[in-house]
Amino acid sequence: ADRRKLAAGNWKMNGTAAALSEVTALAGSQGEARCEILLCPPATLVERMAREAEGTNIAVGGQDCHAAESGAHTGDISARMLKDAGATYVITGHSERRADHGESDEIVRHKTEAAWAEGLTVIVCVGETLSEREASNTIDIIKGQLAGSIPDQATGHNLVVAYEPVWAIGTGKVPTTDQIGEVHDVIRSQLERRFGPGVGRSVRLLYGGSVKAANAAEIFAVENVDGALVGGASLKADDFGGIIAAL
Ligand code: G3H
Repeated sequence: ADRRKLAAGNWKMNGTAAALSEVTALAGSQGEARCEILLCPPATLVERMAREAEGTNIAVGGQDCHAAESGAHTGDISARMLKDAGATYVITGHSERRADHGESDEIVRHKTEAAWAEGLTVIVCVGETLSEREASNTIDIIKGQLAGSIPDQATGHNLVVAYEPVWAIGTGKVPTTDQIGEVHDVIRSQLERRFGPGVGRSVRLLYGGSVKAANAAEIFAVENVDGALVGGASLKADDFGGIIAAL
């Protein structure tokens, strides 16, 4: 399948207005990039970043959304609000949400459905912890998360799956290319089995966890890796640009 590569940056809880200059710099340096570029800033910056990125090849996304459209949920934001602010993507099920906010597969699935109802493309994250890997449970964990977190209405357009081993996030530890390839192959075959070969082959699969310009090329060479979900190295236009160049 002809899958458009995606370089996605997740700023996590980083960035104030001053950081918007990175968007300008990135747009200036990556105007010719062949891949799709996405930045997911904290919610406070979504609208300003979307304005900053207007007319460039940079898309803007949220890092999470609530499953409800509106209501009494202090501190939360809905998919409709993200869309209203200019987002076209949202991340759901990031391991930091699963761990810090107790998000189950079922909650992630409901959030993903809510985002689809607003027409957002959703990056659903899955990944095993170190103890799960050491107990040889990686593949079972990934299969379970995929089955539980992804709603039935998936298409090649509304869904992206990110594989992020929890032990590789922000640690500088990266799985071997064989380990990445093994999990990405499993994700691909699970998607094909559940949604049919057409949809299954068109969903983009991202790897995330300590991706940097220095290791991006070898990760992107792995079969079924269609891009990256980048944390720390997405905060600076220079660093992220180096990763985009490898894609
Ligand atoms: O969403 C991004 C990931 O959690 C990866 O973070 O690139 O800082 O390791 P990192």
